[in-house]
Amino acid sequence: MKKLRVAVLFGGRSGEHDVSLMSARSVLGALDPQRYEVIQIGVTLDGNWLTGANTLDAFDRKDFASLTSVIPPTEPAARQSLYIARSTKMGDKLETLSGVDVFFPVLHGPFGEDGTMQGLFELADAAYVGAGVAGSSVGMDKGIFKDVMRANGIPIVESMLILRTDLEKNMNAVIEKIEKMGEYPFFAKPANLGSSVGISKCNSRSDLSEGLMEAARFDRRLIVEKGARNAREIEVSVLGNEEPQASVCGEVLPSREFYSYESKYIDGTSGLLIPAQLPAEVSDKIREYAIRAYKAIDCAGMARADFFVDGKTNQIYLNELNTLPGFTSISMYPKLWQASGLTYPQLVDRLIGLALERKAQRDRTEHRRTM
Ligand SMILES: Nc1ncnc2c1ncn2[C@@H]1O[C@H](COP(=O)(O)OP(=O)(O)O)[C@@H](O)[C@H]1O
Ligand SMILES: [Mg+2]
Repeated sequence: MKKLRVAVLFGGRSGEHDVSLMSARSVLGALDPQRYEVIQIGVTLDGNWLTGANTLDAFDRKDFASLTSVIPPTEPAARQSLYIARSTKMGDKLETLSGVDVFFPVLHGPFGEDGTMQGLFELADAAYVGAGVAGSSVGMDKGIFKDVMRANGIPIVESMLILRTDLEKNMNAVIEKIEKMGEYPFFAKPANLGSSVGISKCNSRSDLSEGLMEAARFDRRLIVEKGARNAREIEVSVLGNEEPQASVCGEVLPSREFYSYESKYIDGTSGLLIPAQLPAEVSDKIREYAIRAYKAIDCAGMARADFFVDGKTNQIYLNELNTLPGFTSISMYPKLWQASGLTYPQLVDRLIGLALERKAQRDRTEHRRTM
């Protein structure tokens, strides 16, 4: 049997570069060498694509000397191909490494999870793991995402979209408008980012103006939300294309005031409780919302749906969908599947299968009328 050639991409330009390296190490470890021929491609913080022997180790050491440039394919004529530059001068000498069957972007955050990378794969007519351009970008944009959820009757916390230029014109007017939404606390966030970067919990007016300025460093569009009360953080994993399935629910037990970047990745103190202790009707409802949200933004492959549940009333709010969730073997996404009967290697196989399935669907689609 011919092995499937899988190009695993990791690193990337976002603040989650190092998290991506950790996720990729688990993915690479799970790809059965009997069935897959793996090409490792690292993307540097500057956006250069590099490959070579043990690319991931080189990225961990931040020592790129042994690696060569990869020029990503942009045209279907180069279908399933990579050009490998054998000299540092681009275009000097290119070799073609053909026959990439599937790209597996293990890239979190902007330029990996937000539709930009997915657009590149589409241009090249390549099969790839995960959501397409629209699903990825809507999943990343907290402003547009919330509007789509509202339109689909999925409960979310009250929120408001603000432009950085609004802040610059009249901060006080913005604050007054926000305060009309209700009582403190509010959360100020950049519209497009992840891993809690630029997010502040604002308990007072002065917190709020600081929080808005902080969020405005990271995007030209911001979102301000009402704080969910007594918020338990419940997550569910969704897997599939046309008929997605939801896993059991899990709970994140943050060690700090909220699930900050530090508690997620630095001190590693957030605990995971699987399955989450919830009445059956609440967890069923959460899983139903997760699937509806997934379909609403046209996800494919996988996504992790993150909810707030009021610890007193069990009121449910969807917070976000992550289309390329943390993927180390101890991350919530694969652990929820494990608890639902799917091992980590089985999950990776399934994602590759779903990528090929989605590609077959796309190949049936006509892009123009032919006479
Ligand atoms: N409206 C809210 N109410 C209560 N807690 C919130 C709210 N928004 C964010 N948080 C807290 O901040 C964390 C990060 O916010 P989130 O919107 O998930 O951003 P990111 O995309 O960076 O993960 C959440 O996991 C939660 O702990
Ligand atoms: Mg989050």
